Amino acid sequence: MDSSSSPAPPQAPARSRGSSNASQRWSILRRALLARSSSRAPEGTSRDQDIKDGTINISRKASRGFNLIECHSLPISRLMKSLENSSNGNENDLGCQKDVCVFYKLPCGGSSKLNLVYRREDSLELNDIEASNRYNIDTTGLVCCWPSEEVLAYYCINHSDMFRAKKVLELGSGYGLAGFVIAACTNADEVVISDGNPQVVGYIQKNISINAETFGETKVKSMILHWDKEQASEMLNTFDIIVASDCTFFKQFHQSLAQTVKSLLKHSATSQAVFLSPKRGDSLDKFLGIIKENGLNCELIDNYDPTVCNLHKKYEAGDDRTWPNYDKEHCYPLLVRISSFC
Ligand SMILES: C[S@@+](CC[C@H](N)C(=O)[O-])C[C@H]1O[C@@H](n2cnc3c(N)ncnc32)[C@H](O)[C@@H]1O
Repeated sequence: MDSSSSPAPPQAPARSRGSSNASQRWSILRRALLARSSSRAPEGTSRDQDIKDGTINISRKASRGFNLIECHSLPISRLMKSLENSSNGNENDLGCQKDVCVFYKLPCGGSSKLNLVYRREDSLELNDIEASNRYNIDTTGLVCCWPSEEVLAYYCINHSDMFRAKKVLELGSGYGLAGFVIAACTNADEVVISDGNPQVVGYIQKNISINAETFGETKVKSMILHWDKEQASEMLNTFDIIVASDCTFFKQFHQSLAQTVKSLLKHSATSQAVFLSPKRGDSLDKFLGIIKENGLNCELIDNYDPTVCNLHKKYEAGDDRTWPNYDKEHCYPLLVRISSFC
């Protein structure tokens, strides 16, 4: 599936606990068929050129989404080649047919770059669903890096001072672009990139190995962290900053997500959680209600970045047609700032 032709997670992307395997299978099949009928080459590249480069089928991050961070796809073989003589991991572990590498050039001074290995968007399999079922988790983190994650990463680059020397946690990170950007650009002390889906965390760990030289003094870890589980006591009350994107549409996890934030955020006047989430019906508002019920403070900010806001207005007005079917409800992430102090 190509996220660029499916700008946001489907309107009900989470698997509900009660939904049957059969309905999940149909949903996967439907997405695969839709992706096939709408796939196209990335803007600015011809199909011939794609075939020559071996990047056919790699249309990730092509044109839909906010495109705030320069990036392009590389065949996995090229990544392996460039790492051949480096100590950044065993090349056998780096990727497989199902994977693609996206090279990001980060706008944060110096020559910061990231190579992130993702699952190719058309390669979700029934095994993935069966595996996720075992862990009471959905597969949205494997599908792609969603548009809100890129906006979160961009926001973090533009507010890099707030992370300096801090201990940071990303929740429901999926591939964790924002966590990786914080690790590469902000001089954070430690960044923990977490998700409840163990397969997703496998990719995070792989990407930590590949990019190890990019993080300077910052310690970077991956973690399987399911909001529904009790968190390890040594993590309680320890994080200066928690970030998350597009994690508030799982209504069944609202309570546990709010409690996870409450228990892991350090009790200090300066600690805060920063969430970026599209409204998605009443799900964001309901989550904010639950945040308040848990005794946390929150602030909802619509216009938090002039570049993102201008792009949003252009997509919405149809002045920029690179994101057809753009709709504010599901595509424009709002910023939520959460703290435990008034
Ligand atoms: C829509 S994806 C967003 C991923 C990423 N933040 C992005 O925007 O690209 C939601 C993520 O939340 C994770 N997730 C869902 N329910 C969870 C739970 N109960 N505990 C931990 N992670 C969960 C999924 O595995 C998935 O990676």
